[in-house]
Amino acid sequence: MSFNTNTWNRLRYTLYLPIYDLVADRIFRRYRKRSIELLQAKPDDTILIVGAGTGLDLPYLQSYTRITANDITPGMITKLKSRAEKLGVPFEAHVMNGQQMTYADYSFDAVILHLIIAVIPDPVACIREVERVLKPGGTVIVFDKFLPDGQQPSLLRRLFNQVASTLFSDVNRSIGTIVGHTSLQVELNEPAAFGGTFRIVRLRKVA
Ligand SMILES: C[S@@+](CC[C@H](N)C(=O)[O-])C[C@H]1O[C@@H](n2cnc3c(N)ncnc32)[C@H](O)[C@@H]1O
Repeated sequence: MSFNTNTWNRLRYTLYLPIYDLVADRIFRRYRKRSIELLQAKPDDTILIVGAGTGLDLPYLQSYTRITANDITPGMITKLKSRAEKLGVPFEAHVMNGQQMTYADYSFDAVILHLIIAVIPDPVACIREVERVLKPGGTVIVFDKFLPDGQQPSLLRRLFNQVASTLFSDVNRSIGTIVGHTSLQVELNEPAAFGGTFRIVRLRKVA
């Protein structure tokens, strides 16, 4: 049984909003920067951020002009808009479910998935949507915590995950298994925060 639903996430992220940046900014700052560098987007590329939160990625996207962001929590989008205005980053933002996006097929050159694949209730639905809206040859950058591919979580870890996935994020997801439901190719998978528990993974949609 899972408590990880869109309704629950909308509620808890509304509650976390006042302290979100205190927790998620400083410790992940250098990995966000590294991840966006590895995206290797061109200045006029169309870029989508799924589950964009308060917009902590925006300081590293100031040289891009065609950014779209979405999140299921309305309060997150309000905070993201005010950050973008302060930074002068032009963008569009939508309250939207990352598992069922309303963008047309082949809309984006690049997609950013930072700290969303381990949070969203159905990561396979999300990555399939990302594949759908990505242009052929486009890239996806993922930054998140993953169980190593092929590793089975222990009973203790599965029990702990009941709490972790409800209050923070799932600790038992494997990026290879999730991406395996698409035809996206893994181009790079490098260790990031907490001794490599967090990874930066670049995916490409074959042209
Ligand atoms: C851990 S935060 C990450 C935010 C941001 N990407 C960052 O790096 O700081 C997870 C975000 O995912 C959003 N979220 C959860 N479920 C979602 C869904 N189904 N569709 C879109 N966003 C979702 C939450 O509202 C929250 O803002």
